[in-house]
Amino acid sequence: MVQPLSIVIFGASGDLTSRKLIPGLFNNFCKGRLPQTFTIVGVSRSEFEHAAFREKVGQAAQEFAANIYTPEKWAAFAEHIWYMPGNAKEVDSYRRLDAFLREKEGGTADRLYYLSTAPVLYEPTIENLGAAEMVQEDEGWRRVIVEKPFGYNLSTAHSLNEIALQVFQEHQIYRIDHYLGKETAQNILFFRFANTIFEPLWNRNYIENVQITVAEAVDVGHRAEYYDSSGVVRDMFQNHILQLMTLVAMEPPASLNAEAIRNERIKVLQAVRPIDLQDTVRAQYDGYCSTPGVGENSQTPTFAALKLYVDNWRWQGVPFYLRSGKALKAKTTEVAIVFKRPPLMMFHRADPEDDFKPNVLSLCIQPNEGTHIRFETKVPNSLGDTRTVDMGFDYCKYFGDDPLPDAYERLLLDAIKGDASLYTRRDAIETSWQIIDPLLDGWEQHSDDLPPLASYDHGTWGPREADLMLARAGHRWELGCGIG
Ligand code: BG6
Repeated sequence: MVQPLSIVIFGASGDLTSRKLIPGLFNNFCKGRLPQTFTIVGVSRSEFEHAAFREKVGQAAQEFAANIYTPEKWAAFAEHIWYMPGNAKEVDSYRRLDAFLREKEGGTADRLYYLSTAPVLYEPTIENLGAAEMVQEDEGWRRVIVEKPFGYNLSTAHSLNEIALQVFQEHQIYRIDHYLGKETAQNILFFRFANTIFEPLWNRNYIENVQITVAEAVDVGHRAEYYDSSGVVRDMFQNHILQLMTLVAMEPPASLNAEAIRNERIKVLQAVRPIDLQDTVRAQYDGYCSTPGVGENSQTPTFAALKLYVDNWRWQGVPFYLRSGKALKAKTTEVAIVFKRPPLMMFHRADPEDDFKPNVLSLCIQPNEGTHIRFETKVPNSLGDTRTVDMGFDYCKYFGDDPLPDAYERLLLDAIKGDASLYTRRDAIETSWQIIDPLLDGWEQHSDDLPPLASYDHGTWGPREADLMLARAGHRWELGCGIG
């Protein structure tokens, strides 16, 4: 990377910039991964002097990049950071920004634009970048990262795509889903395709069901206003959970190139059978409606559990159970592959009260990153008793206690390098909305025929209804990552 690079963050006074973007860029800088000449410009409506902005993000870096922060390293990095107040809706702001960038660049340069503003500003920002002629690639590449939420439903996602594609070309657009940038999410592909022992079992012949749990202990907190109009399905399922599911369910790609991987991921989404509303549970935690910013009689779900099917050869008949919620017992993101029973069980359980447990492979995405396999073992000194035991791999035991790199660090670097494998293509965004829209519309339109919004207490694993949904099929939620 010899050409100078400019990174413009729109929405720079927001939380994401301080907590994730600047720490991610700082980490890349400290690891020598940014070009020698680079400029970071934060843009938002608030008025800041350059120095005050550096100070603000510097304080955040001490906290959110604590693993690597030293005052000397920060001082070296901060020299590259600038701030410009601007109005996203006025093209003159962009012209001023362009002039400022040109002055810093001093010649040809590459540019990365990061849209981290309120979603209503995505379209005007993109249009004005076009109007100010800041997207042509004759003096270096021009790329734009678009934060989530990408649309509110299929039609708004479609129109955002249309507008983005009037200004940029698809190869310039990076739609971010930070779950794909998590080390352990990327490891799903390594685990599956860098080993021979698991893949032969990875299909309907051996797998009874697949579960993805994305549980959060935090409640909606200060994001209530955004959350109340979105709910858990838009916030977590349409993007993060469906993307995790594509990694678990996809066919091996022919190579690790971005198009090859994204082609396989989209095929999974295209094969998802329309969700049966009877196979869904929606719930709200007690007390949600008294959160400031939430409607008094809000029906917004803060928890959902779904059963869906991927209609292809590999997964025919295998239920995928997905669940996520706020204010649950603990934070954990895990994928559980639950295997079928042996064809004949000849052994006794050591504890007769304890019924048969299937083998479960748990891919622990966070926080106890690792992989666990649950299996049966003969109890020593018994004639034929078995007991369930666990075999585990923990990242920290093998790779040290340093925290794993944050997803944004990797994703920012990928966008700079032009690798879009871990970003979402237009078709994937729109296909996920095609899966989610009928569910949200169905909940609204058929609410009289469906069970009412369930409720659950803070600090539990969600409503009983979610357990019953699995119990009806003889299944149960599995948490195999040492939490729960
Ligand atoms: C965001 C959601 O996309 O992901 C939040 O908007 C959620 O509601 C967050 O808390 C979870 O991310 P992580 O990386 O903490 O699991």
